[in-house]
This record gives sequence, structure tokens and C-alpha cells, in this order.
Amino acid sequence: MALYSEKVMDHFINPRNVGVIEDANGVGEVGNAKCGDIMKMYLKIEDDTIKDVKFETFGCASAIASSSMATELIKGQPVSEAMKLTNKAVAEALDGLPDYKMHCSVLAEEAIRAALEDYNNKSKSNGG
Ligand code: FES
Repeated sequence: MALYSEKVMDHFINPRNVGVIEDANGVGEVGNAKCGDIMKMYLKIEDDTIKDVKFETFGCASAIASSSMATELIKGQPVSEAMKLTNKAVAEALDGLPDYKMHCSVLAEEAIRAALEDYNNKSKSNGG
């Protein structure tokens, strides 16, 4: 049996939404101290909706595939829905990850949450 699903391979070889959003209003960066992988998420939120999302991931194939899939899952969604995204949902959307690679999908969940928290903090300090 192949170690990775076709979807994982697809999102690793051809990741969606890679890059930087210059005028992002929510940015989150997380890392895994054990493997040293780093993930950065950029969100452009308007009218409480994720209008655009991009990521930069310095990490393993599963981390890249997880970030790519996670961006696809939250794009166009309301902030409240994006907040609920779990690493399990990301892994399921990828048709599964090997057990010892589940932590890579956790990174995607954490990066999105960190970017959403950044957005919340910023909108609070803007008096909103
Ligand atoms: Fe570290 Fe995949 S091995 S995120």
C-alpha cells in the first residue's frame, strides 16, 4: 500500500494557494519544535469572510499537503467556520495521513487558528 494517498501527493506536488498576501489582515506562524517545520498563514478577511488565504510552509510533504488542503477548506468560508477547522478534517480531506504524520496536519490547524487570532486582535485594537 502506498504510504501517501493520491490527494496528499497531488497537494504536495501541486500545492494550492502558496505565497504571501501583502495586505493580509491576519497572519499566523507556527512551528513544531521536534521536526523543525514551520508554517505561515496569511488571511485576507472582508465582511467576516475569508476572501483569500495563502501559505508558506518550510516542512515535510505532509505539512505542505496539509497547508494546501487547509487553505482550500477555509477559502470563502465565514470566520466562524474557519475557526472550527480541525486537523482531523484536514487529514480526512486528504484521504488520510499515516499516524506518525498526523502532527503535520496539526500544524495547519494551528497556523490558521493563529492567523484568525491575529485578525481578531487587530480588529479589536481598531476599535471594532
Ligand atoms: Fe514536521 Fe511533518 S514532519 S510537520
